Amino acid sequence: MLVLTFSLCYSQSSRIKRFVSLQHPLLLCRNFTSEISENHNDFTVNYLINSCGLSPEGAILTSKRTKLHSPERPDSALFFLRNHGFSQTQISKIVRSCPHVLHSDPDKILLPKLEFFRSLGVSRECLAKVLERQPTLLSASLENRIMPTYNFLKSMVSEKNVVSVFKSGSRIFVEGHCKNVVPNIEILKESGMPQSCISLLLVHHPSTLMLKPAEIGKVVDEVKQLGFNLQISTSVMAIRALCGKNRPVWNRSLQVYKRWGWSEDVVLSAFRRCPCCMTVSEKKIMLALEFVVIKMGWPSVMIAKAPVVMCYSLEKRFIPRCLVVKVLLLKGLVKDIENVSLCSVLVPTEECFLERYVARYKDEVPQLLSVYHGKVGVEDV
Ligand SMILES: *[C@@H]1O[C@H](CO)[C@@H](O)[C@H](O)[C@H]1NC(C)=O
Ligand SMILES: *[C@@H]1O[C@H](CO)[C@@H](O)[C@H](O)[C@H]1NC(C)=O
Ligand SMILES: *[C@@H]1O[C@H](CO)[C@@H](O)[C@H](O)[C@H]1NC(C)=O
Repeated sequence: MLVLTFSLCYSQSSRIKRFVSLQHPLLLCRNFTSEISENHNDFTVNYLINSCGLSPEGAILTSKRTKLHSPERPDSALFFLRNHGFSQTQISKIVRSCPHVLHSDPDKILLPKLEFFRSLGVSRECLAKVLERQPTLLSASLENRIMPTYNFLKSMVSEKNVVSVFKSGSRIFVEGHCKNVVPNIEILKESGMPQSCISLLLVHHPSTLMLKPAEIGKVVDEVKQLGFNLQISTSVMAIRALCGKNRPVWNRSLQVYKRWGWSEDVVLSAFRRCPCCMTVSEKKIMLALEFVVIKMGWPSVMIAKAPVVMCYSLEKRFIPRCLVVKVLLLKGLVKDIENVSLCSVLVPTEECFLERYVARYKDEVPQLLSVYHGKVGVEDV
C-alpha cells in the first residue's frame, strides 16, 4: 500500500515537472540531471546502472525500451554472459543496444545460439566481439532466422567463407537472406554476373547485397553504362564503390580529382581500371596528389594512368619509392619522367623494387637506400 501511494505521488510529481518544463523554453531540451532525480527510485534504471554498467543517461534511455521487475532473470543472463567470456564493456554495449537480452532464458535462448556459432569454429573471443558489434543476434531466432541464413550461405560459399561473413557482416544473420540478398543475387545473375563474382561480393561485402534491390538494380545499370564487364571481378568492386554509404564518397572523390585537373573522362577511366581509387579518403587523395604534383613536380595524370597506386600505403610504399625515383631523375639516371610508369614503381614487391631501382645504382648513388628509408632527404644527395 505504501509503495502504491508513493508511486502515485511520484508519477504525479513527474507530470507536474514536465508541465512546468513545457512553460519554460529554456528547459525544453532534455535535462538528464532532473531526469536522473526523477528516476532515482526506478528499479530498471538502477539495475542498468549498477549491474550492467550503463551511464545514467544510457540507463534512462534504455529503460524506455525495457522494464525489469526483479533481479532474478537479468542476474542469470548477466552471469551467463560473464561466464562465456564477455567483458564488462561488452556486456554494457550489448545491454544498451539489445536490453531484451536481460529477459532471455540463458539455457533455452542464449546457450543454443552461442553453441551454434561456436560449432562453426568461431572462437570465444571472436564471438564476444561479433556480438558486441551486433547484439541483436542474441534476439534473432535460431530456428527461423539464423539457421536458414546459415544454410543459404552454405549453399553459396564454403563453410570457411560463411564464418568470414559471420565475422565481417553478421547483420545478415539478423535480417536474413530472403528480404534483400536473394532478390539482389537474382538481379546480378540476370545481368550476367557469374556465380564466382557473386560469391566474392557475398563473402567480402555482404552489406552491399543487403541494400534495397531497387538501389542495386540502378547501380548495376550504371556500372554497365560505364563500360564494366559484369563477368569479371573488377565489376564487383565497381558496384560496391557506387552504392550504399560509398556513393557519397564516390561523388566526393570525383570532385577532389577534378580539383587536380582531371577531366570527368579521366576520372572514369581511372575508376574503370581500379575502382578502389574512388573509395579512398579525401585526405589520402589530397596527400598523394600534393606529393606528386607539388613535392615531386610531376604531372597529376601520372596517378590517373596508374590508379592502382592509390590503393597502397602512402607512408610505407608510395612516398619512399617516389623519392628514390626523384633522385634517379635528378642524377640523370632515369631520363624522363614521362617514361616512368608509377605502376612499374609501386606494384613490384619490395625486393624487386630495391633490386631494380636501388641496388642497380648503388655505385652511382650510394645514399639511395637511405633516401628510401627516409634517413636522407632528396636535396641532400
Ligand atoms: C537541470 O535541472 C537541474 C534541476 O532541475 C538544474 O539544477 C540544472 O541546472 C539543469 N541543468 C541544465 C543543463 O539545464
Ligand atoms: C552522386 O552524384 C550523382 C550524379 O551527379 C547524383 O545523381 C547522386 O544523387 C549523387 N549521390 C550522392 C549520394 O551524393
Ligand atoms: C621515352 O618515351 C618516348 C616516347 O614516349 C620515347 O621516344 C623515348 O625513347 C623514351 N625514352 C626512354 C629513355 O625510354
